[in-house]
Amino acid sequence: MTESTVKVVCVTGGSGYIGSWLVSLLLDRGYTVNATVKDLKDENETKHLEALEGAETRLRLFQMDLLDYDSIAAAVSGVSGVFHVASPCTVDEVHDPEQELLAPAVKGTINVLTAAKKLGVKRVVITSSVSAIAPSPTWPSDIPKSENCWTDVEYCEQNEPLRSDVEQKLGMKILSCAVKVSVTLYQVYMKVCLDILALVANRKGRQQLWYPLSKTLAEKAAWDFAKEKGLDIVAVHPGLVMGPILPPTLNGSMRMVLRLIQGCTDSYENYYIGSVHVKDVALAHILVYENTTATGRHICVEAITHYGDFAAKFAELYPEYNIPRFPKDTQPGLLRFKNASKKLMDLGLEFLPMEQIIKDSVESLKSKGYIS
Ligand SMILES: NC(=O)c1ccc[n+]([C@@H]2O[C@H](COP(=O)([O-])OP(=O)(O)OC[C@H]3O[C@@H](n4cnc5c(N)ncnc54)[C@H](OP(=O)(O)O)[C@@H]3O)[C@@H](O)[C@H]2O)c1
Repeated sequence: MTESTVKVVCVTGGSGYIGSWLVSLLLDRGYTVNATVKDLKDENETKHLEALEGAETRLRLFQMDLLDYDSIAAAVSGVSGVFHVASPCTVDEVHDPEQELLAPAVKGTINVLTAAKKLGVKRVVITSSVSAIAPSPTWPSDIPKSENCWTDVEYCEQNEPLRSDVEQKLGMKILSCAVKVSVTLYQVYMKVCLDILALVANRKGRQQLWYPLSKTLAEKAAWDFAKEKGLDIVAVHPGLVMGPILPPTLNGSMRMVLRLIQGCTDSYENYYIGSVHVKDVALAHILVYENTTATGRHICVEAITHYGDFAAKFAELYPEYNIPRFPKDTQPGLLRFKNASKKLMDLGLEFLPMEQIIKDSVESLKSKGYIS
């Protein structure tokens, strides 16, 4: 590896919310960046990157599909480091989980790592998520969640709480109807209803946690690959990422902020464990890349908090918006903890506080015309 290639890196998903901030910070630091986008002809994916300081001479764009190995290899060729950011990111319902989430996350990660190994990349930074840390319902509630904690894959697959929740609510309705009919009718009725409920609840429940499942399986596959093939990888686990928006479209997390402002009462019980400024996320990636002492997983949140804490702070700062009130503990069993990201703090990261995260998000949503 020559001196000139040491500062050449690849960012997959460079056009996205986190990816474009990472590309921006890397260019600021003098790196040459191979950034991947899904469609080179789509100006929504390229224009905001081409406008970055340093892009004219040190940014190269590559069209890449996570399921197409050759398209990945083209972007990874000649670089010393890879930031694997690209992965579908949504908390909304998906219709085809395998195609929409699991395959690009898991096979995509293996394709990127295979290319990195074959092409002699020195270090790969994986953008994982707190969704690979939680939901982890068996983690003791008197110990803060840490990098030792993994999302419970079986829980995601079965999603028992949602299923029992649905069954409980609908079961009550069925019971109240049942007293009005004869015992025989009731038995037939119950059987048919429960069969239908089991189907519906199973389908709904399974759709709910596909995203955490995709991030967890992808990260597990990455560690297995690294161990087996001898590749240097390190992972970053951002919480709910917010702040200034560079791309012209809204990503999943900023859509959640917009929905909160619009009165959405979802408390993201299985998703939220804390928030983080998008610039801190980008910086965290660079810190774990540049510091060879950085190893393993890195939780990246300003603190472990509940979604209700976040919403309450939002309401306090912006009483003009009709922010819903939530119960004190929106994430049952989650211990609040200030120093959850100590590994990144020890590398020099000073996390922007929740107040700043909220203010920067609101200002950006305003400047882009999403809110007034
Ligand atoms: N936002 C958060 O709160 C948060 C929290 C923790 C972890 N993360 C992780 O951070 C990463 C980036 O998320 P983000 O919030 O920046 O979302 P984003 O803006 O949607 O970025 C995702 C990027 O991945 C690309 N991508 C998705 N599927 C692809 C495929 N099949 N082939 C090639 N590229 C593909 C997207 O391209 P297109 O834009 O063209 O679809 C986009 O550039 C993801 O790995 C996500 O899981 C996000």
